[in-house]
Amino acid sequence: MPADTLPPAPPLRPTRVLSGIQPTGRFHWGNYFGAIRQYIELQSAGDAYYFIADLHALTTVREPDRLRSLVHDAAIDLLALGLDPARATLFVQSDVPEVTELTWLLMTVCPMGLLERCHAYKDKKSRGLAADAGLFAYPVLMSADILAYDATLVPVGEDQVQHIEVCRDLAGSFNHLYGEVFTLPSPRLVAGGGRVPGTDGQKMSKSYHNTIEVFEDLAAQKKKIMRITTDSRPVEEPKNPEGDHLFDLYSLMASQSDTQRMAELYRRGGFGYGEVKKALVEAANAFFADARARRAELEADPDQIRAVLADGAARAREQAGRVLTRARQACGLGRTEASPTVPGKKP
Ligand code: TYM
Repeated sequence: MPADTLPPAPPLRPTRVLSGIQPTGRFHWGNYFGAIRQYIELQSAGDAYYFIADLHALTTVREPDRLRSLVHDAAIDLLALGLDPARATLFVQSDVPEVTELTWLLMTVCPMGLLERCHAYKDKKSRGLAADAGLFAYPVLMSADILAYDATLVPVGEDQVQHIEVCRDLAGSFNHLYGEVFTLPSPRLVAGGGRVPGTDGQKMSKSYHNTIEVFEDLAAQKKKIMRITTDSRPVEEPKNPEGDHLFDLYSLMASQSDTQRMAELYRRGGFGYGEVKKALVEAANAFFADARARRAELEADPDQIRAVLADGAARAREQAGRVLTRARQACGLGRTEASPTVPGKKP
């Protein structure tokens, strides 16, 4: 078909990137390689919104002062790691109350069964721990977080993909009932970073106590690295680097050529895991050295951090307000010019 008779192409959706991270502790390597590294990379790909999910953190952090200080530290960490407030909007989740109202609207189209299948709630229940309604409804709040900004792309680690599917389901149901209100988002994962292993080889997670924090004191970090679990095969035996969590961690930090050399060493055998751990300590120090230096500067200027977050919140509220108005109008909330204010009475 000649070009001038082709049907018009569907409009390209501009990329709107959004992601959130909980301030339930200091960020670990899993957060960085699964998510934060993507935030930085994508902040130039289109509009980008990143937030510190303090409302989500309330389901675990119960000490008000600690929560406030974790939120402040989270902002410093993100900026130190390369988030640029001139390119991306950085804000705190609870500074945008529009999102909590949107959560309620979504709750009314959310089947219980959908939330019962979600892993954060299921895991807690299966460990015999009491779960609160906040944890149960957590994916609905997360859906509101995403939909409030018309996000198209959500950079996350593997464990959040299920929640983005919930978000798509809820947006689809709402749109089906009330018209095209919400934009459906897609998750974005990085190869090799979707599930960063912890010191014991399971997924790195605060709940498994197997994390290595990005900015922890270097001596403490070294101790943790030296305690990473390994198998007890003899030194001379050749080993397969694939699926070895120590090797996986090393390859995240080291250059391609150093990673290749390490893979050859594994296959050849004749080395101790202690050597690999020492190489990992050095690679990690070098990898985060600039960010550590930037962090020290940012820490000395708390007013700057507060200003960045205030500016981010104002920008985020503007966007979330537009989407909330659209959603309220679509489902029949609020009065229009023509509708009576009291049912049955003349306006
Ligand atoms: P959170 O705070 O648990 O984790 C933040 C990000 O880090 C990723 N991550 C990992 N990636 C790879 N390997 C790991 N071991 C690892 N551990 C953590 C997570 O996948 C996540 O991307 N519910 C979210 C926060 C949230 C959110 C949102 C995210 C709230 N609203 C809206 C996206 C969009 C959470 O608890 O992430």
